Amino acid sequence: MFCVSFCTDCRWTQLVQSVRGRLATGAKHRRPGCLNGWVTRASLDKQPHEVATMFDDVAANYDLTNDVLSLGQARLWRKEVAKAVHARPAEKVLDLAAGTATSSLPFAATGAYVVPCDFSLGMLQEGKKRNPWLPFTAGDATRLPFRDETFDAVTISFGLRNVQDTDAALRELYRVTKPGGRVVICEFSQPTWTPFRTVYTEYLMRALPPVARAVSSNPDAYVYLAESIRAWPDQAGLAAKLQRAGWSKVAWRNLTGGVVALHRGVRP
Ligand SMILES: C[S@@+](CC[C@H](N)C(=O)[O-])C[C@H]1O[C@@H](n2cnc3c(N)ncnc32)[C@H](O)[C@@H]1O
Repeated sequence: MFCVSFCTDCRWTQLVQSVRGRLATGAKHRRPGCLNGWVTRASLDKQPHEVATMFDDVAANYDLTNDVLSLGQARLWRKEVAKAVHARPAEKVLDLAAGTATSSLPFAATGAYVVPCDFSLGMLQEGKKRNPWLPFTAGDATRLPFRDETFDAVTISFGLRNVQDTDAALRELYRVTKPGGRVVICEFSQPTWTPFRTVYTEYLMRALPPVARAVSSNPDAYVYLAESIRAWPDQAGLAAKLQRAGWSKVAWRNLTGGVVALHRGVRP
């Protein structure tokens, strides 16, 4: 069976052999002048166009897949993020890498003015269909389209790990935050209890890809998910990055035994 596939780099379309109606893993398109090939998942060097295309691909089923693969924990994690951000009525909150804006809704519910920002147009369009009243904004985390000192709080859930230049994103978040404003980062991290870490790593590398194949439109994206989680700094490593970017009072809190960590900081 063949799929029609469009190369985002050279903008040519071709038929690519597929497995059960999907692109074969690692299917590559090569023609003179096109260096990048087909994008079914991003590689760990996180080229921005690969990351954006990968999220465009999964946008329609993204939230459902999240719920399934996190075994329902994603909702609990979002509640904890909302508590940590503690958005108040009329505050301006930036939800960076907001995707479809599921992560933005708890802040909006408090009466804060929330700006969901993302560079995947597919994710933004999917979000706009569901919540047309939110001010969706296209923007890259490393060059944010906002003035200095705009927001009372900035937050990013499951996005920072996907940004190619993490340090630049942390500096940009700092730039657009008002003095005294706060940052909250929600990201996958390292389980702290060794036996649990072993079981979790097995889940990531062995169980997650077959489950993703059953529920996702682009299972390869979930191979990237597992790999990128393994390559991501631990709790202390991310805290050090925040401090280097200028944030003070940096602290973190583990959720689900450290599968996820919330990091917070304040702009002096
Ligand atoms: C896993 S999704 C998270 C979406 C949402 N925050 C949530 O919690 O469901 C990661 C998002 O990060 C976005 N992203 C990755 N790198 C980005 C960048 N450099 N600038 C803006 N968005 C980025 C992707 O497009 C994607 O929508």
